[in-house]
Amino acid sequence: MKVKKAVIPAAGFGTRFLPYTKAQPKEMLPIVDKPTLQFIIEEAIDSGIEEILIITGRNKTSIENHFDRSIELELELERTGKTELLREIRKISDMANIHYIRQKEPLGLGHAIYCAKSFIGDEPFAVLLGDDIVYSKKPCLKQLIEVYDVYKTTVIGVQEVPKEDVNKYGIINGKYLDNNVYMIKDLIEKPSVEAAPSNIAILGRYIITPAIFDILEKIKPGKHGEIQLTDALRELVKSEAMYAYDFEGRRYDLGDKQGFLEATVEYALRRNDLRDNFLKYLTEIVERETKEELLDEIASGAEEN
Ligand code: UTP
Repeated sequence: MKVKKAVIPAAGFGTRFLPYTKAQPKEMLPIVDKPTLQFIIEEAIDSGIEEILIITGRNKTSIENHFDRSIELELELERTGKTELLREIRKISDMANIHYIRQKEPLGLGHAIYCAKSFIGDEPFAVLLGDDIVYSKKPCLKQLIEVYDVYKTTVIGVQEVPKEDVNKYGIINGKYLDNNVYMIKDLIEKPSVEAAPSNIAILGRYIITPAIFDILEKIKPGKHGEIQLTDALRELVKSEAMYAYDFEGRRYDLGDKQGFLEATVEYALRRNDLRDNFLKYLTEIVERETKEELLDEIASGAEEN
């Protein structure tokens, strides 16, 4: 069966990005001038997805507004002859069939996915985390769908992370097959560095079979009292084959301040309209910092003498 539907959970508290996330969704944080979620929806569409369900919650109305028509704005852009911008704005509302459902309480990623049960029905589906973007030659989800088309079962997007960071991710225990594919034996959510079976981390992209919903219905809260998707996948792997794919691409965690800053700088440097001036600015501040550091060193050396 073809993968046609995608779920994008975007109902979390975003505590790592407070105070911004007090009344704004982190999924709408801009990377230069485009909201994170728009990058993710574009990836889903470029991967062949036809129907998208966004799991929203409190303070998330800006998401619905962004992907809706904005007639007044369109008229104004038309009146002032800003045709390029007008086309860009219209493209956003024409992007795909986007549906919304509210997760009444953010009880965890597993619970957010469970909210998609009736929308998905009995089909394999994609999950793209609402705060993860991947810059790649081929859309990351498309890479996963191609692996799904071979194995016809759950496929999880993974990459190696530094060993000391394993406690921030779901980690797999797998057997390497070939072509960057692992057969998963087990998964564990945020293990300690000592307990981690590997440093191969789950990074925000999944193709999952609908059997997950029966498991999610019964699963108990795990790490941090949340209903964890990794725990449900851990159950699923006991009854179905499951694979991981080490995808090509640079992944950014926008829910994390460092990840957000790296994405902002790198996406700006990839843009022809910004690159030259921005690079000049970055070079200047690095030079200034280095110079000041040097002057400070000289000054403190002088004090010592
Ligand atoms: P995160 O764990 O990164 O989101 O979940 P969070 O809980 O909002 O972040 P912190 O740790 O408090 O900063 C990954 C994705 O799953 C969604 C989030 O919105 C994010 O896009 N999510 C998480 C839900 O939709 N519901 C939940 O109950 C939890």
